Amino acid sequence: MTETLDITVTKTKKSRLEETDFNNLIFGHTFADHMFVADYADGEWKNFQIVPYGEIGLSPAISALHYGQAFFEGLKAYKHADGKVSVFRPDKNAKRFNKSAARLCMPQLPEEIFVQSIATLVDLDQAWVPAKANHSLYIRPFMFATDPYLGVNPSHTYKYMVLIGPVGPYFSKTLRVKIETHFTRAAEGGMGYAKAAGNYGGAMLPGRKAAEEGFDQLIWTDAKEHLYVEEMGAANAMFLLDGKLITASTRDTILEGVTRDTVITLAKEWGIPVEERRVSVAEIIEGAKSGKLTDAFGAGTAATIASVGSISYQGEEYFLSDPKEREFSQKLLKTLDGIRYGNIPDTHGWNYIVHE
Ligand code: PLP
Ligand code: COI
Repeated sequence: MTETLDITVTKTKKSRLEETDFNNLIFGHTFADHMFVADYADGEWKNFQIVPYGEIGLSPAISALHYGQAFFEGLKAYKHADGKVSVFRPDKNAKRFNKSAARLCMPQLPEEIFVQSIATLVDLDQAWVPAKANHSLYIRPFMFATDPYLGVNPSHTYKYMVLIGPVGPYFSKTLRVKIETHFTRAAEGGMGYAKAAGNYGGAMLPGRKAAEEGFDQLIWTDAKEHLYVEEMGAANAMFLLDGKLITASTRDTILEGVTRDTVITLAKEWGIPVEERRVSVAEIIEGAKSGKLTDAFGAGTAATIASVGSISYQGEEYFLSDPKEREFSQKLLKTLDGIRYGNIPDTHGWNYIVHE
């Protein structure tokens, strides 16, 4: 860190920690005692504050609400057995944050502000980081436009905020997924590579329809022909086909996942050939039929490594092997957990220690 950020801290008068049930956490429902807030005006970031978590007053005319000038990030903090707290690869999220900002005509946030806001907030609320297997503190940085003005133009003022809250596993079971051949998440020239709020709102109807059909997730395909696999819900889709790790190459329509990069790095180190390219639905279905598709999962911060149990396509359901028997994703989960919870050496420098 080059400079220390001047953050005004106002602590809560009454912590909610005691009344929080850490054994029954539902993703996104529980928030820690504090949150971070900063304002952008007159071409600069200012008013760096940590305040008690709670409601904020806003004009009903802000363009974030009307035109979707809003985006977010997602990352996690982990508690080690010795009490240390680390955040996983925040520098990667800081870079992606600014890619999203650029796509939505929103201001860049210096990487030091991103990392330091998170580090200071998580350190203050470190008692909220669960010390339990498969549990962590979810970190949600986000930015939105605040000009009280209905013109369809980029706002001049913005807020950057960070919310944090303890979470358990996002998916509690092996996933039954469907290959989506009608709806689209992102198109070439669109903003699929950004974590724009609107991408997620647009995915809700297809997600709900898939759930009504009994599926846990859907696999997005390309907008033009629906012949190529893109992503899996809010995670990158990864497959072990014929001994090779294959996943969609990053482009306009694909979010460049931090977990995706982590998995690719580990796979290469383990000597597994990795192919980042266009992945056709046909080869995945063929692999599922022939047994050459030995592993399939969604990789993401919330999802972690979410195993796919079956893939449905055009009314046919193809079943994969029992996830417990899958060598690759089991090793991945073990290694990722080991690094994140500080049980195996972090040789890549992925853990950013916020509390010693
Ligand atoms: N793809 C989408 C659309 C997502 O929302 C996410 C979740 O953040 C990912 C992929 C995985 O990215 P990461 O591993 O950085 O969480
Ligand atoms: C994340 O993994 O952080 C995500 O963004 C998924 C989220 C939309 C629940």
